[in-house]
Amino acid sequence: MKLRQAVRLLPHMAFCASLFLVFTACENRAGKHSQTAETQDARADKTGHQDWETIVEVLLHPRCLNCHQLEMPLINEGSPHIPRVERGPNNMGSGTMQCRNCHSNQNNPVTGAPGAPGWAMAPIELNWSHMSSAQICKLLTTPQDNGGRSPESLLKFMSDNPLALWGWNPGGKRQPVTIPHEKLIEAMKGWIAAGTPCPPERTSN
Ligand code: HEC
Ligand code: HEC
Repeated sequence: MKLRQAVRLLPHMAFCASLFLVFTACENRAGKHSQTAETQDARADKTGHQDWETIVEVLLHPRCLNCHQLEMPLINEGSPHIPRVERGPNNMGSGTMQCRNCHSNQNNPVTGAPGAPGWAMAPIELNWSHMSSAQICKLLTTPQDNGGRSPESLLKFMSDNPLALWGWNPGGKRQPVTIPHEKLIEAMKGWIAAGTPCPPERTSN
């Protein structure tokens, strides 16, 4: 008798259980949804200024800055490149000291030389090694000064150029760029959407 009652109850119980599942699933989804909205809101400084701070932190990281120099690349946290090498006429070295003699398409664990396709010094107009955040921003947003580059080409370079991506896979004991790559790309998109605003330039009196 008792068993039969229980058996009769079973479908009800199953029904209730499934209702319960549906409810919690819905609730979960709603919860997740509002959570992403919140994180996005917290990140989305709609003015783009916070995004610029993220971007410039990457641009000034030694993994990026070491190639964005005037005449000679630097190594590690900004020490001179030994042996001494120079930019040369094509940014690829001078005389017998060509970058490709030692740097290949990938990091070389035997010689210790880092590498990525296209290894060369950054063009001279992209030497921001001596600049303030405001000056770098102005340079990158002024095509006449930066070799005709657009915000979209900056974003493209940082998204998939092997020289930029190397910064997150530098090999050896080198520290990768501290800002996660996805965060940089998000910041680039936010900064561009906000109209590429720059910090105010400090006037020195
Ligand atoms: C091995 C040297 C090297 C390293 C390391 C390097 N760059 Fe560059 N960078 C270059 C060269 C060369 C170019 C020019 C590429 C071109 O014009 O096609 C360049 C161009 C750029 C540009 C301009 C892109 C455009 O054409 O719009 C940006 C922005 C940039 N680099 C940022 C970075 C960042 C960020 C990092 C670190 C994550 C980095 N670079 C690391 C050599 C380097
Ligand atoms: C004779 C070989 C040789 C030549 C030529 C050479 N390099 Fe290097 N380079 C090295 C070695 C080895 C290292 C690693 C040094 C270390 O980590 O102590 C290095 C490190 C670097 C780094 C440091 C990366 C970092 O963030 O620590 C950069 C940037 C660099 N080279 C750029 C260049 C460029 C650009 C050229 C051409 C103009 C060039 N190198 C030519 C051997 C060479």
